[in-house]
Amino acid sequence: MEKKELIYEGKGKKLFAVENGDLLIAEFKDDLTAFNAQKRSQESGKGALNAAISAKLFGLLEKNGIATHLVKTLDSTNHLIKKTQIIPIEVVVRNVATGSLTKRLGIEEGTKLAFSLVEFYYKNDDLGDPILSDEHAILMKLASDNELKTLKELARKINSVLLPFFESIKLRLIDFKVEFGRDRNGAILLADEISPDSCRFWDATSGEKLDKDRFRQDLGDVKSAYEEVLKRILGALN
Ligand code: TMP
Ligand code: ASP
Repeated sequence: MEKKELIYEGKGKKLFAVENGDLLIAEFKDDLTAFNAQKRSQESGKGALNAAISAKLFGLLEKNGIATHLVKTLDSTNHLIKKTQIIPIEVVVRNVATGSLTKRLGIEEGTKLAFSLVEFYYKNDDLGDPILSDEHAILMKLASDNELKTLKELARKINSVLLPFFESIKLRLIDFKVEFGRDRNGAILLADEISPDSCRFWDATSGEKLDKDRFRQDLGDVKSAYEEVLKRILGALN
């Protein structure tokens, strides 16, 4: 599959056109960014780790009835995907309080939430991805009322598949962010990626962080944490 022009470059991936106008190639980059790209680094091999992790998790979700944009893995860093119009809402699901939730509301770090919390954030780097209410999203025409309902349902369903899966490989899925796109017919597909860049995983035994918080918080060993996540996933899904 030949890459044609670069049509978009984000913080974690580049998107290329291909011959078939309904498809794109997503190339996972080695760049690491945090805090709206105020903190930047590179980790050789990180793109390939995220590409492999995301492919496995999207496959697991497809098997469980969640439609995703992934068509197939082309090589270690490139995925063939269905072209979608990305809905500019970052959908965050939280099982345990940490990160911005503890900062904003003062809920104690590590509190297991009474139910899985779904939040919307406006995907807009210039504004620093602010939190959105449903009414903000509708007012700004980011998505319709029905689409917001679908996003919440899909986010909860994804969580209900991923939580027991990660539990089975001794990782606590603390929280994660997903993005969705509309295909040509308006159907909503899971897009972007699910990886240690977009999730928080704590080792079930030691509590050790095995995700991008290692980079955000300067904990070191970023790559070996991502490798450990991939190793456990492959152990369960291969
Ligand atoms: P937060 O606690 O910083 O709001 O993050 C919640 C979850 O969303 C966490 O798993 C990290 C992920 N996330 C992203 O993937 N991209 C982002 O830009 C942010 C802020 C968080
Ligand atoms: N994804 C955002 C960035 O790269 C923020 C974060 O993940 O902390 O800047």
